[in-house]
Amino acid sequence: MAQLWGGRFTKETDQLVYNFNASISFDQKFYEQDIRGSKAHVTMLAKQGILTEEEKDQILTGLEGILSDVKEGKLAITSQYEDIHSFVEANLIDRIGDAGKKLHTGRSRNDQVALDMKLYVRDEIGEIDEEVKKLLGSLLKIMEENVHTYMPGFTHLQKAQPVTLAHHIGAYFEMFRRDRGRLADIKKRMNTCPLGAGALAGTTYPLDRAYTAELLGFDEPTKNSMDSVSDRDYVIELLSALSTIMMHLSRFSEEIILWNSNEYRFVEIDDAYSTGSSIMPQKKNPDIAELVRGKTGRVYGALLSILTTMKGIPLAYNKDMQEDKELTFDAIDTVKGCLALFTGMVSTMEFRKENMEKSAKNGFTNATDAADYLVNHGVPFRDAHGIVGQLVLLCIEKGISLDELPLEEYQKISPVFEKDIYEAISMQTCVEKRITYGAPGPQMMEKVIQEEREYLEKN
Ligand code: ARG
Repeated sequence: MAQLWGGRFTKETDQLVYNFNASISFDQKFYEQDIRGSKAHVTMLAKQGILTEEEKDQILTGLEGILSDVKEGKLAITSQYEDIHSFVEANLIDRIGDAGKKLHTGRSRNDQVALDMKLYVRDEIGEIDEEVKKLLGSLLKIMEENVHTYMPGFTHLQKAQPVTLAHHIGAYFEMFRRDRGRLADIKKRMNTCPLGAGALAGTTYPLDRAYTAELLGFDEPTKNSMDSVSDRDYVIELLSALSTIMMHLSRFSEEIILWNSNEYRFVEIDDAYSTGSSIMPQKKNPDIAELVRGKTGRVYGALLSILTTMKGIPLAYNKDMQEDKELTFDAIDTVKGCLALFTGMVSTMEFRKENMEKSAKNGFTNATDAADYLVNHGVPFRDAHGIVGQLVLLCIEKGISLDELPLEEYQKISPVFEKDIYEAISMQTCVEKRITYGAPGPQMMEKVIQEEREYLEKN
């Protein structure tokens, strides 16, 4: 057991207590951020004359040595240390002696861990954003290739009106684009540096907190030292944004699972992204999509857990907050993994365009357009709605589609129908005429795709 705080104690910590309290098994994940923070801290201490230049140089060399040794696997982070902060400090003292004992001047583990977690989250936001951007790139490609691929649009999981595959995928593009916006907002709001807050009440050393903040790429130092060591809002915001990403991935996964089923046959998931059954030889299962949908639960769990952990904590630092890490790390890794796999799955998936188009034709998705035809010939919409309803009923009885119903049958129900009705309700007309901004008409879709292309180039 290597602890930083033995002085006041007369007995060894009970081993179970030590294990229960220790965080090294998980906070070792941010050893790089911990060392980065320490380097900025000592640089600032030397600038303020609190450390000599020589001490600073010794410490920096020592810290860099620890960093590269850990990275190269020459130095193992073991459970002999309570946490990553103790590990780094103990190793520093081993390497450079007395100067190492000055590293923690004007700092507490409370502001140190607050800093480490912020640095880690900020770095990971960048990585998650990259993954979402890659997914958007794949979606855009599918959109570009499918502005004329007709498929049924659904409401209540019932065929409603025809859309295109580009338009359907475009809906997900918007969701993930907003997810990137949320990540960017969090990064902007969290970008203040807690270092220098000390345990809770700042320090009596003449620290230059603005300088440390600048060295670490923050916009400014935090404004209240008590808030600095007890703020985990940004973790909650991140987990909320990650939950939303998972919710979007999960809905999309659900659709892919449906589309990949024998009943739909809209897509064929690539063999590389499917698995078989140990008993049923015919099976090719959409496990990746199912796992993504399933893993949504653990990310939601992380959000709920941290919200609950934080709700009763009096100011300022309390050990409860150590619980922020494992959940957040797990959620981040889960989301990154799901995004990467999902992108691989959608970009290799085959779209069965004929089946989509056939399905759009068979579900009366052009019924609204038949009613609109009557409206264009002076029939009030409510009457038109009723007339087409009767036509649909007739078609259901005959087991045919509106396109197949003879003109005499149309005219028996309403004399307004002429033979141009077939043109008016063709799949092509139904889709191509929907040209308002945001609608599936190919002309408008091309415009939106161009805008999305520019957005991805700039952001
Ligand atoms: N492992 C601790 C955490 O994650 C570091 C801070 C410890 N501070 C303290 N006063 N015990 O929160």
